[in-house]
Amino acid sequence: MLIQTGRDGLSQPGASEITPRAVYDNRRNVLKLMAGGLAGPMLAAWAARDALAQVARPGKLAALASTRSAVAGAATMEKLTDYKDATSYNNFYEFGTDKADPANNAHSLKTSPWTVEVEGLVRKPARYALEDLLKLSAQEDRIYRLRCVEGWSMVIPWVGYSLARLIEKVEPLGNAKFVEFISQADPRTMPFVGSRVLDWPYVEALRLDEAMHPLTLLAFGMYGEVLPNQNGAPLRLVVPWKYGFKSGKSLVRIRFTDREPRTAWNKAAASEYGFYSNVNPEVDHPRWSQATERRIGEDGLFAKKRKTLMFNGYEAQVGQLYAGMDLKKNF
Ligand code: MTE
Repeated sequence: MLIQTGRDGLSQPGASEITPRAVYDNRRNVLKLMAGGLAGPMLAAWAARDALAQVARPGKLAALASTRSAVAGAATMEKLTDYKDATSYNNFYEFGTDKADPANNAHSLKTSPWTVEVEGLVRKPARYALEDLLKLSAQEDRIYRLRCVEGWSMVIPWVGYSLARLIEKVEPLGNAKFVEFISQADPRTMPFVGSRVLDWPYVEALRLDEAMHPLTLLAFGMYGEVLPNQNGAPLRLVVPWKYGFKSGKSLVRIRFTDREPRTAWNKAAASEYGFYSNVNPEVDHPRWSQATERRIGEDGLFAKKRKTLMFNGYEAQVGQLYAGMDLKKNF
């Protein structure tokens, strides 16, 4: 990981500022090919390395050693969201409903000791200490777009490994069809747990094949360091082709089931938050259009909105998971 700093003191200069135009355009063309699924994993790895050249450690928290990811679609050439924005504009309702609340209040979260219970329809249920989970597989750098259902997005360099590595260890039984992700809900350290905004704990869930998809990331860090509390320390999920609320923070329990679980947001407003919640510019939320998005950090008076991409730009990787499904009904 490079630690050279750029104009803002945090990140390196964007590729367009340091690279001759022709070279830059050529890279963009290769990336277009990749997005269309026409180029192979070698190119994906190359792009990951190139994009990671943007990442500089903010130097705020403990460093988390990591290696380059070979997962196709794990990198993007888009400018990274500034660490300051990614850590001060958050949704973490256990700490309040304003975007600034998590950064202001989450210092009370106690992240050590931390254990994660893996249970339900598995041959080898287990209680993992965080230290053991950290060592279970090599930590990789993954740059993902995060698209919130409220209409904003960020580009974040996460550190973690595919959730599939953990799922393989516990050996799901043949009747396991879904995976439930349960967040910490401790009223002593999380001031909004107990408020009526959601039915606590925060619960999210995926189909087993979605949970096993290589893009589904168990994240322990971001920007080369351990996760800040407001971003879901000490571990969270990141499911980049779904709206951000599917990515549960501060997980304490992972449960394998045979029935589709009820999720916290689905219980709160079933007509607004479906089980799948795949990013889809053609299916609007009842209160918000999903056709465009505002990239955090680009919110000047004349900033253009960006077109939202099907499956948040990961269609080539995940589209086949939904073959034959009516995505309007299964929103
Ligand atoms: N997880 C928990 N436990 N509680 C929450 O309120 N908010 C979700 C998701 N995970 C949330 C959560 C929503 S709505 C979004 S958009 C993302 O976290 C935001 O992640 P970020 O703050 O790291 O950008």
